[in-house]
Amino acid sequence: MPVIFLILLEKLKIIKIIVNGIIFNVFATGRSGYMIETDKIYCENCLDTMNRMPDNFIDLTVTSPPYDNLRTYKGYSFDFEKVAREIYRITKEGGVVVWVVGDATVKGSETGTSFKQVLYFKECGFNLHDTMIWNKGGFSAVGALKVRYAPVFEYMFVLTKRKLKTFNPIKDRSNKCAGKNVSGTIRQSDGSMTPMSKVMIINEYGQRFNIWEQSPQRQRGKNKHPAPFPEQLANDHIISWSNEGDLVYDPFMGSGTAAKMAKLNNRNYIGSEISEEYCKIASARI
Ligand SMILES: C[S@@+](CC[C@H](N)C(=O)[O-])C[C@H]1O[C@@H](n2cnc3c(N)ncnc32)[C@H](O)[C@@H]1O
Repeated sequence: MPVIFLILLEKLKIIKIIVNGIIFNVFATGRSGYMIETDKIYCENCLDTMNRMPDNFIDLTVTSPPYDNLRTYKGYSFDFEKVAREIYRITKEGGVVVWVVGDATVKGSETGTSFKQVLYFKECGFNLHDTMIWNKGGFSAVGALKVRYAPVFEYMFVLTKRKLKTFNPIKDRSNKCAGKNVSGTIRQSDGSMTPMSKVMIINEYGQRFNIWEQSPQRQRGKNKHPAPFPEQLANDHIISWSNEGDLVYDPFMGSGTAAKMAKLNNRNYIGSEISEEYCKIASARI
């Protein structure tokens, strides 16, 4: 027999339904007075979805916005500065935003849009916690390789609203010296060396570095999105920066990868996607 709790946080106008200790669904009233429900994709402009959300509501945003008209996405565009201010408002204290972007090269010069965006996020109040790199491990014939090396990466800017509240580091980097004992000296911040207090045995796996290599996801068939996240990439950010029962948001949901991986990891999710066609692809996947 499931144990069901209804928690009404009246001041925040939030209702939580908890079944057997797991947050099953959340309803909240946003700034606009409209209600938002979790575990749903909103087929609309993300500014409208965020307008339904109260302040300090989302634990983790994992997203990749359209950038520099590299792909037209059926002509949809967005007002970056408004979106950035809204993302800051709806993010909880200690919450995280993972913003995955790259730059187009226009008339031989990279636009630098990604940097401009991240500096604006800082103006909104976010900390730039880490500039991570997604190494796609290959490229899809863009630009002239006669004058440059092949562009193979995108930035994954990790932003936090004040002090980070969750970090579950992934430890899957195999250590070359696994099993060996280490003793010796440790360099201090002033440059001096002090002996290690005890001998340590090197573990089989160490914590991952901040460059992640993952091949881009290919979607097959007629109903496909031009630029889906690799599932593993969304998965790894979700488990790193959130806990079970947390609320994950993707304002530019596309084919629904972040929502799918949030659900598989027992997180609640909300997604916004402006194209009806992509909303249908996302609904079918989740
Ligand atoms: C880079 S794609 C996201 C792909 C996604 N990460 C996935 O795994 O499929 C960006 C998406 O943002 C959508 N979009 C553009 N402007 C939008 C807006 N104002 N509100 C919501 N979605 C928007 C586009 O239709 C496109 O599907």
